Amino acid sequence: MAVKTCVFDAYGTLFDVAAAARNCAAEPRWSQLNGIWQKLANDWRSKQLQYTWLRAVTGEHTDFWNVTGDALDWSLEASGLAGDPELRERLLALYWELEAYPEVPKMLSELKAQSCTTAILSNGSPDMLTGAVNSAGISGLIDAMLSVESTGIFKPHRSVYELVEQRFGVQPADVMFVSSNGWDAAAGAGFGFRSVWVNRSGEPLDRLPREPAFVFRDLSGIPGLAMSI
Ligand code: LAC
Repeated sequence: MAVKTCVFDAYGTLFDVAAAARNCAAEPRWSQLNGIWQKLANDWRSKQLQYTWLRAVTGEHTDFWNVTGDALDWSLEASGLAGDPELRERLLALYWELEAYPEVPKMLSELKAQSCTTAILSNGSPDMLTGAVNSAGISGLIDAMLSVESTGIFKPHRSVYELVEQRFGVQPADVMFVSSNGWDAAAGAGFGFRSVWVNRSGEPLDRLPREPAFVFRDLSGIPGLAMSI
């Protein structure tokens, strides 16, 4: 047996969401971010996710780019950096072209060599995902990009995971779903995917009703796992 459909979360899984604040801090113009870019990146990510969940619960959807901008505004203010539109613009531009984690191109190439179908399933809007995939140079290694925008609600709503079945006509049990977000990996497991949590920073397992079947420290073991399950 081998899994032939491998679906990846985007932000935090394929793309390093901390890269925008980190790379901005490295630019001489924005040296005021030195020493605080980590807090800015953490706040930005944490508020971004909170806003997706809150908008899903309240039924007030807007796309992920708007949520990303709202979360950045909160985070800049929390770090005493509100009121600098050029800094905001620079950070958002860097978010549009996030780096992929170093092992991503090889991992995807190996999956393609195993005749796997590869896809992204993300909160990201289609244009954001296109921007990130192109700037990371992996567009030729991804067969499909599935965005929550076609459902109008963010993860972990079930209708998002159903996009995979609808697109590929596969049963959830025949899909490997890979996410670095513990809650997303748990929701994918609840949906019936063979779920992999990529736990780069050694966080505790989320206390949620379902658990991922596999836990890795990075993405390099994914092709081997797809071949063996
Ligand atoms: C995504 C978020 C969860 O890409 O990172 O869907």
